[in-house]
Amino acid sequence: MRNIIALALGILATAGASAVPAQQEGKALATGICSACHGPEGHSVSPVFPRLAGQQSAYIVLQLDAFRGHQRSDPNAQAYMWGMASQLNDDTIKELADYYAAQKPVPGQAGDAALVAAGEKIFVGGIPAQGVPACASCHGALAEGVAAFPRLGGQHVDYLIAQLQGFQSGLRSNAPIMLAVVRTLTAEQIKAVAVYAASR
Ligand code: HEC
Ligand code: HEC
Repeated sequence: MRNIIALALGILATAGASAVPAQQEGKALATGICSACHGPEGHSVSPVFPRLAGQQSAYIVLQLDAFRGHQRSDPNAQAYMWGMASQLNDDTIKELADYYAAQKPVPGQAGDAALVAAGEKIFVGGIPAQGVPACASCHGALAEGVAAFPRLGGQHVDYLIAQLQGFQSGLRSNAPIMLAVVRTLTAEQIKAVAVYAASR
């Protein structure tokens, strides 16, 4: 993985000098560099690497900006994305975001029926007794996201669990809305709602 990072950073550093026309630079970076981890068209295979296909453009812009500014600072963000984002300017960030938003999302993956049912209750209705709001109110009824609210549908279950744990532990500390949402969730509730969201 160290080699991929070094190679990708080397290519990114010289990308500005390349002959690729500006409007195609985002796609060229996506297919030439980001795909090493995020997969072709953003369909990654390993849950360490979030799927970007069909992700909301505004959300991607905000995240790349937060990696570049070091506000999103969980260990994997630092190890993998700080270097990548440091090589991007506002124009390429917008092109990359539009490119990924236009790709077909990975279809939801079927999960354990009991977990899906428990997760659906949380996603659609929240957990009033614990002060947990309905996820659907921001992430959309189909977990498709809108603007700064990310798509969760079709995402890797283990990535979603890691993010929810990261909000809870404070490792991913730059998202005050989500810090409040996850505060009282148990490990079982996190797993159930992640399995349900990924199944959408
Ligand atoms: C060496 C592997 C690697 C490469 C290459 C890479 N990424 Fe990432 N990316 C990651 C990892 C790992 C994460 C998850 C970070 C975390 O857990 O906080 C991530 C997260 C992201 C996120 C946040 C997604 C979300 O759902 O919050 C975006 C957006 C992103 N990357 C875009 C890009 C773009 C654009 C490129 C190419 C310029 C790129 N990445 C190249 C490994 C990589
Ligand atoms: C009030 C609006 C709101 C509610 C309700 C909400 N979220 Fe979020 N969620 C957000 C925002 C905004 C972000 C992006 C945070 C950032 O910019 O880093 C986010 C990010 C996330 C992420 C990270 C996605 C990624 O690709 O890294 C996960 C997972 C998530 N939310 C799950 C949930 C779950 C599960 C629930 C219900 C228990 C929920 N959210 C309820 C607003 C909300």
